[in-house]
Amino acid sequence: MTSRRNFMAMSAVAVAGTLLAGGTASAGDELEFPYNVAFTEKHPGHWTNKAGSHVPEVEVKNDTLIVRTPHPMSEKHYIVRHTLVDKKGNFIAGHTFAPTDEKAISRFKLPADSAGKKYYVTSFCNKHDLWVHKVKL
Ligand SMILES: [Fe+2]
Repeated sequence: MTSRRNFMAMSAVAVAGTLLAGGTASAGDELEFPYNVAFTEKHPGHWTNKAGSHVPEVEVKNDTLIVRTPHPMSEKHYIVRHTLVDKKGNFIAGHTFAPTDEKAISRFKLPADSAGKKYYVTSFCNKHDLWVHKVKL
């Protein structure tokens, strides 16, 4: 199970990295995501009605970003990983979950100069792929 979980976590990071590093920049320096590769609340692709339980929610407390995915955690279906990536695609932090974890909640210490900057927060489900939430702190 550990190697499968690691593979899935690495796949999520690889997809996110590919999208962020190779994504097409548009006006305003926003990154575009291909449909049905990475999913957002606005573009759930073929996962209609799954956004509510897969888009990561964020909360800032002092210098910490708290990420929650409101998704059940079980051996067969769970959130594998959260990541925090800056708007240029630089990996900031990540957390890999075990299916036995009670909830998909992670905490990331924010860079000192993060106020007012945009970040991508990802959440990867072992059945419903990679979900991305863009936040401005
Ligand atoms: Fe799921």
